[in-house]
Formats: sequence, C-alpha cells, structure tokens
Amino acid sequence: MKLLEGKTAIVTGAARGIGKALAIRFAQEGANIAFTDLVIDENGKATEEEIAALGVKVKGYASNAADFEQTKEVVDQIHKDFGSIDILVNNAGITKDGLMMRMTEQQWDAVIAVNLKSAFNFIHATLSIMMRQRSGSIINMASVVGVHGNAGQSNYAASKAGLIALAKSIAQEVGSRGIRANAIAPGFIETAMTAALPDNVRAEWVQKIPLRRGGKPEDIADVATFLASDMSSYVTGQVIQVDGGMNM
Ligand SMILES: NC(=O)c1ccc[n+]([C@@H]2O[C@H](COP(=O)([O-])OP(=O)(O)OC[C@H]3O[C@@H](n4cnc5c(N)ncnc54)[C@H](O)[C@@H]3O)[C@@H](O)[C@H]2O)c1
Repeated sequence: MKLLEGKTAIVTGAARGIGKALAIRFAQEGANIAFTDLVIDENGKATEEEIAALGVKVKGYASNAADFEQTKEVVDQIHKDFGSIDILVNNAGITKDGLMMRMTEQQWDAVIAVNLKSAFNFIHATLSIMMRQRSGSIINMASVVGVHGNAGQSNYAASKAGLIALAKSIAQEVGSRGIRANAIAPGFIETAMTAALPDNVRAEWVQKIPLRRGGKPEDIADVATFLASDMSSYVTGQVIQVDGGMNM
C-alpha cells in the first residue's frame, strides 16, 4: 500500500521548483494532484505530464494564490473535480529582498500577500471540507529565515515566521477534528529562486552547512510526504528544519 493512496493533495505554486518535486513525490505515493500556479505554461504542462505518467489523476489550475476570491473559486472547482481534499501544501512564494531602509511598501505588501495571505486564503477555503471529512494535513512552506531572521529579507522572514505561527494556531484550532498543520523550514535549496544568487554568496552559504551541500527539492519532498501521510499522525503544530544542519 502506497503512503498517500487515494488521497487528494493541493500544492500551490507547483509548476516548478520545490512545489513540483513535492507534487511528483506525492503522486509516486499514490496521491491525486491538484496544483496551482499563476499560469499553467509549458512548465505547468510538463509538470502535469510527468505526474500523469505516474498513473494518478492530475490537473494544473491557473490561479493567483494571493487573491481571496480566486482561491475560493479554484478550491471549489478542485473539490468538484477531485471529490475530496486531504492534503494542502501552501508552497507558493516569492522574494523581494532589500534592507529595511530601502524597502518599498510594494516590496513589503507583495511578499506578505503571496507568501502569507495566500496560506490564509487556501486554509480558509479548504478547512470546512477537511472538517466534514474529519481529517486533513496542512503543510506551510516556511523557511529557516522565518525561524532565525535574515538581514535584507525582513519582509520574507516575517512572512515565513507568520506561516509557522499560522500552522501552530490552526493545529490548535482543529486538532480535535483530526486535522494536522505543520510547517517545513527549508534551508538553502537549489532551485530557480536560489540560482539568482551570485557564486560567492552561494559558496558562503554552503560553508555554513554541516552537510556541505545545498539541498535538493527532493529533500523537501521527502519530509513533506512524511507530514502529509499517516506516518506523522501524532505530529502537529511543528516546524521541521530541512537545512543540512545549517541552523541547530
Ligand atoms: N529555494 C530555497 O532555497 C527555499 C528556501 C526556503 C524556502 N523556500 C520556499 O519554498 C517555496 C518554493 O520555492 P522555490 O524555490 O521552489 O521557488 P520557485 O520560484 O522556483 O517556485 C515558486 C512557484 O510559485 C509560483 N508563484 C509565485 N507567486 C504565485 C502566486 N501569487 N500564486 C500562485 N503561484 C505563485 C511561481 O510561479 C513558481 O512556480 C517558496 O515558498 C519559498 O519561499 C525556498
């Protein structure tokens, strides 16, 4: 029996990167996959095809996770298309870095909206479905900087700290209904988001990591699979750092 056989998972921002790796890993464990991204372009189509080849049901939905009404509509549609929603991964995220003295209101608002409000939108839209089912696993994709802070990323760090506190609060609100909520705090993971960093910055990061390598999206996907599955049925309100030991 596969770990997620027959379950339906929503993964936001999953046309590429960590979200895509998660969606593929969940599908390998038998989950049906509804994923979202701003547009379903060639990346999204490729993700759909890779997942379909694993023999599960899959559909990519174009939707802005930061938009409350759009999220409600897309969750209703997914529920109609798939019949249940068992796993929700709030993964969509962006960075707009800058020191506080130079940060614009737009940089602050955009990061809080895409990283944090999106999770409120999706949890708000899915919770009543999970409550009726009396089961569900919610995973917020946070970051080690949401635990430890990072100069030049106050907006991003605040949004990720918010995702951690949101998971803990939801865990307390709906634990009695069989719904769990946890956060994953990835460290330095090799994706398009980190590819933009200059080589010297990348080298400095790797020096600080006891395992002496950046993480792979698959490293995050394995932990997410554990949190999504019944293997973690007594784990809720936790934040798991997946960072090669960078922060202990
Ligand atoms: N890469 C890392 O080192 C790292 C470290 C810690 C945390 N994270 C977090 O992991 C998550 C995934 O990161 P990634 O590295 O795969 O990034 P990525 O940029 O490769 O992928 C993010 C995806 O989210 C989508 N997206 C952006 N705004 C959206 C919106 N408003 N609605 C729907 N989709 C939207 C993008 O189109 C993209 O496909 C993010 O939340 C990020 O903050 C990444």
